[in-house]
Amino acid sequence: MAGVIGTGSMGRGIAQVLAEAGVVVRLADADPGAAEAARGFIADMLARKIAKGQCDEAHRVATLDRLVIVPAEPEAFAGVDLVVEAIVEALDVKRRLFSGLEPAVGPDCILASNTSSLSVTAIAAGCAVPERVAGFHFFNPVPVMKIVEVVAGARTAPWVTAALTALAGRTGHRAANVADSPGFLVNHAGRGFGVEALRILQDGVARPVDIDRIMRDAAGFRMGPFELFDLVGLDVSQPVMESIYNQFFQEPRFRPSPIGRNRMESGLLGRKTGAGFYVYENGRARIEP
Ligand code: NAI
Repeated sequence: MAGVIGTGSMGRGIAQVLAEAGVVVRLADADPGAAEAARGFIADMLARKIAKGQCDEAHRVATLDRLVIVPAEPEAFAGVDLVVEAIVEALDVKRRLFSGLEPAVGPDCILASNTSSLSVTAIAAGCAVPERVAGFHFFNPVPVMKIVEVVAGARTAPWVTAALTALAGRTGHRAANVADSPGFLVNHAGRGFGVEALRILQDGVARPVDIDRIMRDAAGFRMGPFELFDLVGLDVSQPVMESIYNQFFQEPRFRPSPIGRNRMESGLLGRKTGAGFYVYENGRARIEP
């Protein structure tokens, strides 16, 4: 049995893949109604899978039955084997969440963080038993992106990363085992993709639509950097860029462009606000005039 805390874009996807793999999942969110909304979203996703012939009604009903909404209180997670958190990307909040859970869950319960950019070692340092803490970093959208980084912090026990790797296999996700390091593997390697694209835009070399097209058609990426920024949300991507830059002691090659922070502060976050580098109407992108 597992728990998922934080049922936004990532938490609901993680809950879906776990429940589809047969794991009973307790769902909680600090925002009243968010867990219920996530369950409704998953129900719609499963209905779409039925329409595409990817599963049947019995699978949908059984999956939804495994999603149990509980209050966002540590006691609600007593008896689970694993808690995955996908709450706000803030070190102090994540540390408080895990240290608060420790007395309520059993000694063998794994505490996994879906953090994109924070140090797993630092999150674990707030716990009485840091050996049980690891990173379990999925990608958006979780049911489609069949990879996950299993991140070992400085004190993570090998049985913890082994258990998460095995669980990833059950959900059909291929685990990449990585050591705790700024941006882990994907967001470290991805600096050349996102940060450099913003610099190209800042230098007036090309428009987002042209950069995206080139990266798709010539470089073979599934989506361009600005399409990805809009999908993830600049409120998530910008702090990740700044965090990785700072964790590498301001190494110039990781320095974010001021464009990202300006756009984040202006509320041009991407699909979630209806406008980012593109404008969205009925969920479809329209090139900004
Ligand atoms: P989101 O904003 O869509 O969802 C976060 C949810 O957590 C919200 O429903 C919020 O009410 C809830 N929450 C916040 N603080 C809480 C607390 N203390 N206790 C319980 N619930 C709380 O965020 P998103 O995008 O799902 O990101 C969640 C985490 O996943 C972050 O750490 C982020 O860096 C990471 N991540 C995000 C990716 C993305 O593409 N959006 C990709 C991979 C990782």
